[in-house]
Amino acid sequence: MSILTKHKFIETNATLLLVLSFLVVSVGGLVQIVPLFYLENTIEKVEGMRPYSPLELTGRDIYIREGCYVCHSQMIRPMRDEVERYGHYSLAAESMYDHPFQWGSKRTGPDLARVGGRYSDDWHLVHLRNPQSVVPESIMPKYAFLEETLIEPEHIEELLATHALVGVPYTDEMIETAAADFRAQADPDSDYDDMLERYPGAQVRNFDGQPGISEADAMIAYLQMLGTLVDFSTFTPDASR
Ligand code: HEC
Repeated sequence: MSILTKHKFIETNATLLLVLSFLVVSVGGLVQIVPLFYLENTIEKVEGMRPYSPLELTGRDIYIREGCYVCHSQMIRPMRDEVERYGHYSLAAESMYDHPFQWGSKRTGPDLARVGGRYSDDWHLVHLRNPQSVVPESIMPKYAFLEETLIEPEHIEELLATHALVGVPYTDEMIETAAADFRAQADPDSDYDDMLERYPGAQVRNFDGQPGISEADAMIAYLQMLGTLVDFSTFTPDASR
C-alpha cells in the first residue's frame, strides 16, 4: 500500500479519521499546555500586586453587573500605539486576582486597565452620572443611580471567601475584617491603618463626596485602583523569558 492509499483508507473511514485526529490534536495541545503548569514564571512575580480590597472588589462586582466590560477592555497590548495612549502594556500578574478576568473583547470606549489616577473622583462621579456632560459626543449610558444606591457590606465575607476558594490569597483575617475594611476605606475619618496594612496602597476617601457608602463609592474606588498597583518606575521585565 502506498502512502496515498493508506491515507485514502483513513480519509474514507470516518471513525478512524476521528480517532486519529483526536490523537494528533491531543498531542499538540499537551505539548503547548503542559509546560505552562511546570514553568515557575508563567505569571511573573511582580511587586505591588495584592488582592483587591473589599470596597474595590465590590466595585468590581458592580462593574461586572452593569456590563461595563461590554464596551471597555482592561488589557493594553504591547504595541506602540496602545502603549503611547494607555501606558505600560498589561502584565499577566496584573489580572491574576481577577475571577473572571476583565480583559474584554471590544473597545466601544477606551481601555480602562490604567485609568486609575487619570481623573479626579469628582470627574468620575460627574461622568458616571451623565457622561455627555463631560464628553458631549460620548455614547456611554448614564449610571446616576450608582450614587443614589447605598450599600451595606452584607455579603462581603462570602465574596472574599469565594475568591479565596478559587485561589486569591485572602487570609482568614482578611475575610473576618472585610466589613470593617469596606467601611474604613470609604471614610477618611476612620481608623484605617489596619486596613492599609492588609491592602497596601489602598486609597482612602469619601469617593462620591456624599454621606453613606454608595455603589458609586465602590465603583470609583475600583476605577482609581486600576493599573496603579505595580510601580512601573522600578519594574524591569524578566529578560530570561
Ligand atoms: C455602550 C458602551 C459603554 C458602556 C456600557 C460603558 N461605557 Fe464607559 N465609555 C464609553 C465610551 C464611548 C467612552 C468614551 C467617551 C467618554 O469618556 O464618555 C467611555 C469612557 C469611560 C471612561 C473614561 C475613560 C478614559 O480613559 O477617558 C470611564 C472611566 C468609563 N467609561 C467607565 C465605565 C464604567 C465604570 C462603566 C459601567 C458602569 C461603563 N464605562 C460602561 C462607552 C461605554
